Amino acid sequence: MRIFKLFKNHILALLAAVALITISCNADLTLPTYMSEIVDVGIQQGGIESPVPTTIRRSTLDDLELFMSDEDTATVEAAYSAPEADGVCTYTGSEADRAEDGPVSDAMSLPETVALALEQGIDASSMASMTGSDATAGASAAPTPQQNAAMTPDQIAAMKAKAQAAAQMQQQIEADGGKVTMDAVRIAADAGLIARDQLVQAASQMADQMGSMGGSIVKQRAVSFVQQEYQDQGIELSDVQNAYLAGMSAKMFGLCAISLVATILTGAVASHTACTIARDLRRKTFDKVMHFSPAEVNKFSQASLITRCTNDVQQIQMAATLLIRMVMMAPIMGIVALTRVLATHTGLEWTIGVAVIAVSAVVGVLMGLTMPKFKKMQKFVDRVNLVAREMLDGIMPIRAFGRQEHELDRFDGASRDLMETQLFTNRAMSFMMPLMMFVMNCVTVLIVWAGSHGVSDGVMQVGDMMAFISYTMQIVMAFMILTMVSVMLPRAEVACERVEEALNTESSIKEPARPQLPAADAPRGELEFRGVSFQYPDAREDVIGGVNFKVGAGQMLGIIGSTGSGKSTLVQLIPRLYDVTGGKVLLDGVDVRDLPLSELRRRIGYIPQQGMLFTGTVESNLKFAGDSVTDDDMHRAATTAQATDFIEERDGGFESEISQGGGNVSGGQRQRLSIARALAKRPEVIVFDDSFSALDYKTDALLREALARDEKDSSLVVVAQRIATIMHADQIIVLDEGHVVGQGTHEELLRSCPAYLEIAQSQLSAKELGLSQEEIDAVMSGAAQKGGAR
Ligand SMILES: Nc1ncnc2c1ncn2[C@@H]1O[C@H](COP(=O)(O)OP(=O)(O)OP(=O)(O)O)[C@@H](O)[C@H]1O
Ligand SMILES: [Mg+2]
Repeated sequence: MRIFKLFKNHILALLAAVALITISCNADLTLPTYMSEIVDVGIQQGGIESPVPTTIRRSTLDDLELFMSDEDTATVEAAYSAPEADGVCTYTGSEADRAEDGPVSDAMSLPETVALALEQGIDASSMASMTGSDATAGASAAPTPQQNAAMTPDQIAAMKAKAQAAAQMQQQIEADGGKVTMDAVRIAADAGLIARDQLVQAASQMADQMGSMGGSIVKQRAVSFVQQEYQDQGIELSDVQNAYLAGMSAKMFGLCAISLVATILTGAVASHTACTIARDLRRKTFDKVMHFSPAEVNKFSQASLITRCTNDVQQIQMAATLLIRMVMMAPIMGIVALTRVLATHTGLEWTIGVAVIAVSAVVGVLMGLTMPKFKKMQKFVDRVNLVAREMLDGIMPIRAFGRQEHELDRFDGASRDLMETQLFTNRAMSFMMPLMMFVMNCVTVLIVWAGSHGVSDGVMQVGDMMAFISYTMQIVMAFMILTMVSVMLPRAEVACERVEEALNTESSIKEPARPQLPAADAPRGELEFRGVSFQYPDAREDVIGGVNFKVGAGQMLGIIGSTGSGKSTLVQLIPRLYDVTGGKVLLDGVDVRDLPLSELRRRIGYIPQQGMLFTGTVESNLKFAGDSVTDDDMHRAATTAQATDFIEERDGGFESEISQGGGNVSGGQRQRLSIARALAKRPEVIVFDDSFSALDYKTDALLREALARDEKDSSLVVVAQRIATIMHADQIIVLDEGHVVGQGTHEELLRSCPAYLEIAQSQLSAKELGLSQEEIDAVMSGAAQKGGAR
C-alpha cells in the first residue's frame, strides 16, 4: 500500500503512538477486570478479597490449625504475627501469598470452610464416618479392672482423663442438639481422642464433597468465615466493604486518567504526524507542479492538479490520522483483550469466534457494495472542480452570452454524479452501525445465556461474565474498526496514487546534465534559431518548421503572421517553455538546453500573450523577479513601458493594490505592467508575445521609441499583429501555418512577400506604405505566378 510508504520518515512518532496505544488499551481493558471484582468481591463477598483475614484471633487460628497439615500450619504461622494483648494476630505475609492460589490462602480456605460448617454443627454420625473413628465411643467404654491392673498409674490417669474428656464431649454434643460443633472437636482433639491426621482427612473429605459443587463455593464459604471472624473481632463489615470499594474506585479512576492522557497524546501524535505528512506532500507536489512545462500541465489539466494538491492530500491526511489512531489501535486492543479473555478460562471463548464471523459477514457485504463507488468518488470530485474552475474563469463570457442556466445545468450534472455516489456509499455505511450493534447485542445475549449455566454450576462468577462481555465487545469493536477503516483506505489509496502520479511525472523541460555558460568573450544578448522545428506532444504534424534567424543586442526581430500561424509557439521556445523537436535555439552562442534553467530565464524577459498579474501591489508585481530588482530598475522599467503616468494616478501609486490576476487594471494597463515587469530585471533578450495589442497607436509608438532608446543592450523579439509595431524592426519573419514565408526588412518584404504585403495593405494605405499600385500588382502577380507554377 502506497500510504504506508508515507510514514517512512515518521518511525519515531509511530513507535511513540504504539507505546501510548498499548498503555491506553491496557488501562481500558483493566477496567472490566476491576468491574468484575467490584461485583464478585466488593458486592458478593462484602469487600473481602481473600480467605486470609488481615487480623485473626489466636484462638480462631488454633481452631483452624486443627484441620491443617503440619506443613500448612507452618506456612500459616509464618504469615501471622504473635498475638497482641487482645489476642489478635496480624497478617504479615505478602499479598501474593494471600491472593487466590497463594500458599497461605490455599492452606486456610479448607479449614475455614470446615470451621464454618462446624459453627452450625455437623451431624455426629457423618462426622464419625469422616474421621473414620467413633470418638464418642470412648465415653461409654470405661476401662475394666483387668485393664487397670495392666497399666502404670500414669497410664491409668491418662486413661481416666480421656474418659472424662469423652464424657465432656458427649455432654457438649448433647447440649448442641446432637451435633458436633467446634467446641466438641476442640475437646476431643485436646484430649487426644482424635488425631490431627484424622481431622485433616475429614477436612479434605468435606472439600471433595464441596468440590463437586464448584471451586467458587469453597471460596465463598471461606470468605463467609472471614466475615464472621471480623464480626467476632468487633470490626464493622460495612467499613471493610466501603474501604474495598473506595480503593477499587480510586484505582479505576487512576486507570481512566492514564487512559485519558494516553489517548489524548495518541491523538496529538497522530494529528501532528498526519499534518506533517500532508504538508510535506503538498509542498512536494506543488514544487513538482511548479516545474512542470505547459505540456505536463495540459496533460493533467489545471483542475486536476489543484485537486491533487488539495483534496487528495487531505484524503491522505485523514487516512494517516485514522491509520495511527484506529488501524494501529485495533490489533493492539484485540490482542490485549484476547490474552485477557484466554486468561479467564470461562469456557466461553467460542462466542468470540461467532462474533468475529458475524461481523466479517456484515462488513464483507457492505464493503463489496461500496468499494467500487469509493474509487469513483475522487474522479467525480475532479470533475466538479474542473467545471467550477472553468465557469469561474469564464464568468464574463457566460454572462455575456446569457448561458448561466446552461452552465448551471452542466455544473449540476457533475455535482449530481458526486452526490449520488456519496449518497449510495453513505447509505450503505449507515447500515454498518445498526447492524454492528445488532451483532454485538446478539453476542451479549449469547454470552449471558452460555455464561449463566457456568454461574449456576458455580464455576463462574457474575463479575467474570460481565468482564468477558466487555472484552468480547472490545475485540469485536477492534475488528469492526479495522474493517471500517479498510473501507476508507482504498479511497486514500486512490488519492495517494493520484498524488504519486503527479510526483512521478518528470517535467519534459529538464536541467542540463552538463550545464554550460556562455564564454566570457561571447556576444551578449545574441539569439539565434538554427533550423528550428517543433511539434506539440500528441500532435501529428510540426507546428513550426525550418526557422532560421539571428538577432543581436540593440536589434529588433519582428514576427508577424495570421492567427494560429505559430507565433506564440515560436517564441515559447526561447525561455524553454517547450523544447524544440528539431534544430537548435542558441543564446549567446550556447544551446538553451545546455544553460542552467535559472540562468536562461534570468537572461530572458518574456511577456506572455495573456498579461497576468499577481495579487499584491504594483511594486510587488514589478519587482517579481526578486531582490535583484532595485527601485531604480523599477522606475526606469515603468517609464520605458509608458506605465508611470497611470501608476502615479492611482491611489497610492506604486503601493496601490493589484487584485487577483490584475482584475482591477485595464487590459492595456495590464500589458504595460507586464512589460515593465519583464524590463525591470534587465534581461538580455526581451520577448513580446503580442504585448502591444491592447495599446492605442500613440502609446504603442511611444513605447517602441522608448524601447529603442533605453534597451540598447538587449535584443528584442516582438510578435505583433500590427505592421506599424514591427515595421522598423531590423528583421521581420512572416509566418504562415508554421512556415517562414518571408524574412527581411519591412521594405524588402513589401516588395518580395505577398503574404506580408497583404497584411500590410489591410492595415495601411498604399500611400502610407510608400508603394505605387504597379509595385503592388507586381508583387501580387508574382505570387499568383508562383502559385500557378506550383
Ligand atoms: N498546447 C497545444 N497543444 C497542441 N496544439 C497547440 C497548443 N497550443 C497551440 N497549438 C496549436 O498550434 C498552432 C499555433 O498556435 P499559436 O498559439 O502559436 O498561434 P499564434 O500564431 O500565436 O496565434 P495568435 O495570433 O492567435 O496568438 C495552432 O494551430 C494551435 O491550435
Ligand atoms: Mg499567439
